[in-house]
Amino acid sequence: MSEPAKIAIVGAGGFGKETLVMINQINAIKLHWQVIGFFDDGIQRDSLVAGLRVLGNVDDLNNYEKELSVVIAVGDPRTKKMIVDKIRNPMLNFPSLIHPVATIGENIKAGAGCIITAGCRLTIDITLNDFVLLNLNTTIGHDVSIGSYSSIMPGVHLSGYVHVGEEVLIGTGASVLQHVSIADRAVIGAGAVVNRSVEKGRTVAGVPARPIKKND
Ligand SMILES: CC(C)(COP(=O)(O)OP(=O)(O)OC[C@H]1O[C@@H](n2cnc3c(N)ncnc32)[C@H](O)[C@@H]1OP(=O)(O)O)[C@@H](O)C(=O)NCCC(=O)NCCS
Repeated sequence: MSEPAKIAIVGAGGFGKETLVMINQINAIKLHWQVIGFFDDGIQRDSLVAGLRVLGNVDDLNNYEKELSVVIAVGDPRTKKMIVDKIRNPMLNFPSLIHPVATIGENIKAGAGCIITAGCRLTIDITLNDFVLLNLNTTIGHDVSIGSYSSIMPGVHLSGYVHVGEEVLIGTGASVLQHVSIADRAVIGAGAVVNRSVEKGRTVAGVPARPIKKND
C-alpha cells in the first residue's frame, strides 16, 4: 500500500478546523492524506488547534524543503489571494479536495486548490478556476463558471448559466438566478436573491438584491 501524501493546512481558524475534519472524512473512506499541521500568520507557533500543531507561518512554508501538498483553508477571497501570492516554494503543490459526500456531475473542471465540501451538488458543464471554495450544501447548476479565489458560502444556490468572476464572496443562503453575471470582487450578502447582474466590486444584499455600498 502506498504511503499517504503529506498535506498542510494554511489557516488555523474555524474553516481550517473544518478542513481538517473534511480531510479526516476523506481518509475514513480511503487513507490518502497525512496532515502534518497548520501554518498561520496570526497564531503562535506550536499552538494546538483541534489537536494539531501550528508549525509556523507562510514564510516558514516558503522555507519547507520537502514536497508537500497544501490546502488554503481561508474563506475571505482577498486574504486567500494574498496568501497564494506570498507562497513561492516550488516544493509545494495545491490539490483540489472533494468531500466524499459531494455529488459531482458531468464535465466538471476544477483548477488547483479548490475545496468542495460536504453536501455540495454540481450538475453539468461547470468550471471552477483556481482556489474556489464551495462551502457546505451549495448547489451549482449547469453551465456555471466561477473565477479564481471566489468563495461560495453554505447553502448558496447558483442557477444555470451563472458566471461568477474572481475574488467574489457569495454569502450564506444566497440564490443567484439563471444567466446572472457577478463581476470580480463583488460581495453578495447572506440570504440575497440576485436577479440582476452585479458590477465589479459592488456589495449587494436583500431580496431582490440591491447595492448597499461601493467597496472598491
Ligand atoms: C453583505 C455584508 C458583506 C455586508 O457587511 P458589512 O459591509 O459589514 O455591512 P454592514 O453590516 O455595515 O451593513 C450595511 C447595511 O446593509 C444591511 N445588510 C448587511 N447584510 C445584509 C444582508 N445579508 N441582507 C440584507 N441587508 C444586509 C445592514 O443591515 C446595514 O443596513 P443599514 O445601513 O440600513 O443599517 C454582510 O452582512 C454579509 O451578508 N456577509 C456574508 C457573511 C457570510 O455569509 N458568511 C459566511 C460564513 S461561513
